[in-house]
Amino acid sequence: MSSYHPAAELPAPDDEQIAHSVRLIERIVERIEQQGGVISFRQYMQACLYEPGLGYYAAGSIKFGKHGDFITAPEISPLFGQTWALHIASLFAQGLSAQILEIGAGSGRLACDIVREFDANHIDWQSYFILETSADLRQRQQQLLRDQLTPQAFAKIIWLDALPQGFSGMIIGNEVLDAMPVSVVLKDGDWIELGIGFEQGRFIWKEFSRNSEAVQGIQEIDVDNHLPPQYCTEINLNFAPWLQALSDASAQVVVELIDYGYERAQYYHVQRNTGTLLCFYRHRSHPDPLVFPGLQDITAFVDFDAVADAAGQAGFEVGGLTTQAGFLMENGLLQQAGVCEDELQQLALAQQVKSLTLPGEMGEKFKVIALQKNINLALKGF
Ligand SMILES: C[S@@+](CC[C@H](N)C(=O)[O-])C[C@H]1O[C@@H](n2cnc3c(N)ncnc32)[C@H](O)[C@@H]1O
Repeated sequence: MSSYHPAAELPAPDDEQIAHSVRLIERIVERIEQQGGVISFRQYMQACLYEPGLGYYAAGSIKFGKHGDFITAPEISPLFGQTWALHIASLFAQGLSAQILEIGAGSGRLACDIVREFDANHIDWQSYFILETSADLRQRQQQLLRDQLTPQAFAKIIWLDALPQGFSGMIIGNEVLDAMPVSVVLKDGDWIELGIGFEQGRFIWKEFSRNSEAVQGIQEIDVDNHLPPQYCTEINLNFAPWLQALSDASAQVVVELIDYGYERAQYYHVQRNTGTLLCFYRHRSHPDPLVFPGLQDITAFVDFDAVADAAGQAGFEVGGLTTQAGFLMENGLLQQAGVCEDELQQLALAQQVKSLTLPGEMGEKFKVIALQKNINLALKGF
């Protein structure tokens, strides 16, 4: 079977990677056959990212940083985690339980920078929990944190297999929401949900359903029929169950999630008529999720109104939504960047500040949403 179809402009994977991708393709094709010729795009994206042992986040390739496929804010600069740490410390000072739960910790870099900043500033903290679905990433996180933290600090990092019950403290996640599988919908006369089939050795787009939860969801968003014919977009049905589970696990918490996305009017803007799916392979971004299954990251921008609505229904209060630039600046990013004496390093830090905050870089595309449950603290920067 061959389904691997290289996109001319992307670097070619090696033989081992191709063999890996083909194993995942076979698994997905089996599922398509069992389901009568088509699976939803949401199922396809779930398999591409999280299929045990084969999905992008479940298997062993390096994803983050210059040898991987993409760079996230903690990989760009320690200033990101250091600034977030000071913000979190301001919440501990207001009475928030001094524990952190990080969801989807990637390489472990953010945890490392936050903990080191706490210790450098003598900020008391009890435990730093990490919930990571990927066994491979968990191993990488353990190695990095063991290498870079003091034994005392490392002993307070705890990896979890599931959400804790009755958690109180700070819950954070950077670029977790964009990695949750989305449903793809198309206005083809009526709204339809798109799925993935397999023909002549290739994955292809197909109609999946005319009456699914995703179709009902987009009909509610397009209730005034403002979206034009052939408009194609995404809807994320994972936010509601995920936030409900987070709320059920929480006693007194502040949650802050950072990701790229828009408020609803921008997300479902008439001109954004091909959706927001974005794939990353060796620092090239492109919009085709059918290329290199299992070898590339697949993401979708976040509809922050959908997150806020789902959070409200799950029992959270929405504490605010702001840009990454606003959040970092208000919480002392420039002061953090200004404490270095080495001139070359100072220049590097200035460059990192630009990457994190300029509107054309991460500053405005990335937003921070804050939620609170059973507590009402002043959230600096919102
Ligand atoms: C794009 S990466 C971001 C990693 C890291 N936070 C960073 O900023 O570099 C997405 C991360 O979220 C994790 N992830 C996705 N869905 C998750 C879920 N439901 N629970 C826990 N982790 C999840 C992935 O395994 C991965 O570590």
